[in-house]
Amino acid sequence: MDTDPRLIRGFQLVAGLIALLILVQATLAGQFTYKEPDLKNVHEIMGNVLFMLAIVQLALAWLTRDAWRYRMVIWSALVLLLIVAQIGLGYGGRENLDSAAIHIPVGVFLFALSSIIAMLSAIDERAKTILRGTG
Ligand code: HEM
Repeated sequence: MDTDPRLIRGFQLVAGLIALLILVQATLAGQFTYKEPDLKNVHEIMGNVLFMLAIVQLALAWLTRDAWRYRMVIWSALVLLLIVAQIGLGYGGRENLDSAAIHIPVGVFLFALSSIIAMLSAIDERAKTILRGTG
């Protein structure tokens, strides 16, 4: 089955956006913890946006699975799973400091993972071939 290059491009864009928004999450956390408590609402909303983007990323990974030989499906499923956990840990932090304490390293790990996924999808040779239109 031929992979639509637009779906490959879409995956790369969404993967990059997720990494960027996780960095925004850390920035917002710094702001609402030390300066502007109201920004916690924005962090909460952004958490839901990230959840929806992770579903889109997984769907795009599935639709382009031939290009990545399923690798991106597995990585994207892991990102979705960790974002769901991250939302649970975030709300848990309202009453349980252990939960808030775990939320921070999971956020750092998610930033690393999502950045690696975005980078790997950008340098993937099969994806590049499809984008050039010769695949
Ligand atoms: C995928 C990324 C993330 C998601 C989906 C997410 C989601 C959430 C949610 C839903 C809350 C609860 C908000 C509320 O109680 O109204 C929260 C709280 C919080 N988040 Fe995140 N977050 C993410 C990343 C991060 C990162 C990277 C950091 C810091 C490095 C961070 C720091 C915090 C802190 C300090 C709280 C407050 C916990 C408390 O109530 O004591 N978050 N987060």
